[in-house]
Amino acid sequence: MIFPDRVLSGMRPTGAMHLGHYHGVLKNWVRLQSEYPCLFFVADWHALTTHYEETQRIGDDGWDMVIDWLASGVDPAKATIFIQSQVPEHAELFLLLSMVTPLGWLERVPTYKDQQQKLSDRDLSTYGFLGYPLMQAADILVYRATMVPVGEDQVPHIEMTREIARRFNHVFGNEPDFEAKSKVAVRKLGSEAKRFAELRTRYQEEGDADALKQARAIVDAALAVPLEDRERLFGSAEGAHRVILPEPAALLTKVSRMPGLDGQRMAKSYKNTIALREEPESVTKKIRTMPTDPARVRRIDPGEPELCPVWPLHQVYSDDATKQWVQTGCRTAGIGCLECKQPVIDAIVRELAPIRERAQRYLDNPALVRDIVADGCAKARAMAGETMRDVRSAMGLVQDQ
Ligand code: TRP
Ligand code: SF4
Repeated sequence: MIFPDRVLSGMRPTGAMHLGHYHGVLKNWVRLQSEYPCLFFVADWHALTTHYEETQRIGDDGWDMVIDWLASGVDPAKATIFIQSQVPEHAELFLLLSMVTPLGWLERVPTYKDQQQKLSDRDLSTYGFLGYPLMQAADILVYRATMVPVGEDQVPHIEMTREIARRFNHVFGNEPDFEAKSKVAVRKLGSEAKRFAELRTRYQEEGDADALKQARAIVDAALAVPLEDRERLFGSAEGAHRVILPEPAALLTKVSRMPGLDGQRMAKSYKNTIALREEPESVTKKIRTMPTDPARVRRIDPGEPELCPVWPLHQVYSDDATKQWVQTGCRTAGIGCLECKQPVIDAIVRELAPIRERAQRYLDNPALVRDIVADGCAKARAMAGETMRDVRSAMGLVQDQ
């Protein structure tokens, strides 16, 4: 790609994070931040699309969430952490993209009708709710992000983002003198110019995808050619337009279904969570009072781990020897349930200890968090500003004086 790798993801401000967020999302972010430049943001405008009647906590929930990102190891030295509503460029791009977004694309997004049905206690027949996948597209495209780590439910949104980018490039990437300019750009490829032109013809006339790939590789490698020209070359290889907004790819987050306290997936709405800042006493109490295989009424009744919500937690936290001990001990009534739960309690308390410690540092020093986010917002604005200059210019709008 001529656009450098850039990872972006956002989360609605849901307040303090729990182990489900940690195992499902945050560990993945922490891994990604050492591999790519990353941007992670609080999607507070997204919260408004469904919760516009109860907005009082959105701000505080955002701060709580950021504290837990930091406590989980998201590192402001590696990743840019910011709040969506502090970067107005998201809204500007959202507006501009809305001009070329057919209504049908939004109505067909699967979450549109789904959510309206699921959240039937709210009136979601609003313009904002219909438009939120487009807002998400703007979130991504305003940074020209190339990779977006998301769960499976979000994949249709990324797919739509790609369609929007393609449409935008198609409608606005046609400079009046594109042909002439791309000819000049081809010449700048020097010794590779001829091969590039041949590959382009092969792709455009024979649809040879491999030729397109090779043509892109040439442009990729031509580091001395200015970015503007490389955009043109990239576009001219595909058809006759400039790529202003690159199409992002979804980085599908492996479904790690962190089990909750009741055997269902851990989720706030199920009230079966352990928070990242949960105190050891509370962790202990929650696990000790967890339901077990109902067959084990008395200590002497044998049980079956497969029918017990504690077993999935052993699968997350225990080594093979412990798991074997559980299987045998449970089926022979050799161990009691409280005994069985202890290694899980210990593992969770151990896992949370460093997270709680880091969180405390930020709780004791809120200015530290504000500074991190202010710095992130400034960096994000600078990146978004670059894209918006290109977008305004492609659309023929007046630039800042
Ligand atoms: N819609 C996402 C969710 O509900 C959050 C989100 C908003 C997002 N903008 C984004 C995720 C951009 C990835 C990229 O989970
Ligand atoms: Fe569940 Fe363990 Fe009790 Fe068996 S011994 S029922 S696995 S808690």
